[in-house]
Amino acid sequence: MIENTPKLFIPGPTEVDERVRLVMAQRVIGHRTSEMTDLYGGIVEKLQKFFGTKHYALVFTSSGSGVMEGTIRNLAAKHVLHGACGAFSKRWYEMSLANDKEADLVWADWGKAVKPEMIAEAMEKKKYELLAQIHNETSTGVRNPTDEIAKIAHENDTLIAIDAVSSLGGDMIKIDNYDVVIASSQKALALPPGLAVAFVSEDAMERSRNMKNKGFYFDFVRMLARYEKNKQHPSTPAVSLLYAMDMQLDLMLKEGYQGRYERHLKMQKLVHNWVKKRGFEFFAEPGYESVTVTTIKNTHGISVKELNKELIKRGMMLSNGYGSNLKEKTFRIAHMGQLTPADIMALLDSVDEILESWGVY
Ligand SMILES: Cc1ncc(COP(=O)(O)O)c(C=O)c1O
Repeated sequence: MIENTPKLFIPGPTEVDERVRLVMAQRVIGHRTSEMTDLYGGIVEKLQKFFGTKHYALVFTSSGSGVMEGTIRNLAAKHVLHGACGAFSKRWYEMSLANDKEADLVWADWGKAVKPEMIAEAMEKKKYELLAQIHNETSTGVRNPTDEIAKIAHENDTLIAIDAVSSLGGDMIKIDNYDVVIASSQKALALPPGLAVAFVSEDAMERSRNMKNKGFYFDFVRMLARYEKNKQHPSTPAVSLLYAMDMQLDLMLKEGYQGRYERHLKMQKLVHNWVKKRGFEFFAEPGYESVTVTTIKNTHGISVKELNKELIKRGMMLSNGYGSNLKEKTFRIAHMGQLTPADIMALLDSVDEILESWGVY
């Protein structure tokens, strides 16, 4: 056992409710049993109910990256456009290249959001099968205007997939505006790592039905076919994590989508007020700040490593910067998943105590 694990204010993995952790201790069931049919069938229904969508809900045993790669292979034979603005969205573009796609990149600079007109301009020049667009860029703390971008994609007869890996379950995302919405379990869904969710539209499923060379494990059509047969997976899923997801969805349904979103907004506001009061600055451009994670310019030049050492003594941990040269220039406070405004206040009080003792302010 690892002793003294700190409460996580990092942008994944995030805190998991104790009830959800404990449910994983149950005896494992066979993956070809009626119990599994009930379990996975229930999860799919709850996902659709919570997020208010009739899109197919597929749950893969994989982290989010697997489904990001799978989405490219299911939906594009060749031409993919990537709307990117940070480390994770750039990596998605690299995935397209690694899969031999003719991928183009619309790049908003670090800290900036991809704007609809940038996508429109790229689509005027060339026809794409798929737009792979970042929703919440976890490295820069930028939330992109994906609803408007989706309209542009659809006007250009292009499918749109969004990476909502670190926002789904915290931010308010209208699933039906997109063809694929991808999330990882270990972020705002507040589950342990190991599962990925994809909401898939009928148009995207139809595209996949006709796609060649789309791989095997992440084939949306195979996943759906097995689900439609008896609500099971084509291969052995992470059964214990599915117990956890089932219980977490019950907790989420109790809170409601709007309630969850509002709690996230409250936490975001607490962090924003603190940033301004303490003379730090936001890395994200104004108006495009993430609801689930704030990337903060390290204007006081503090050692984030030393800060974390002190915080860990108090049972908490935040995150250094990520990507390009942001590691020391920024730090990140995640306010996602099961954390509460009280948790955020406790973290900020501790940070203040430490920074005051260092004479930073
Ligand atoms: C925005 C974003 N996309 C993709 C990923 C990769 O997800 P995973 O680690 O679940 O594969 C991450 C991980 O932090 C992320 O934040």
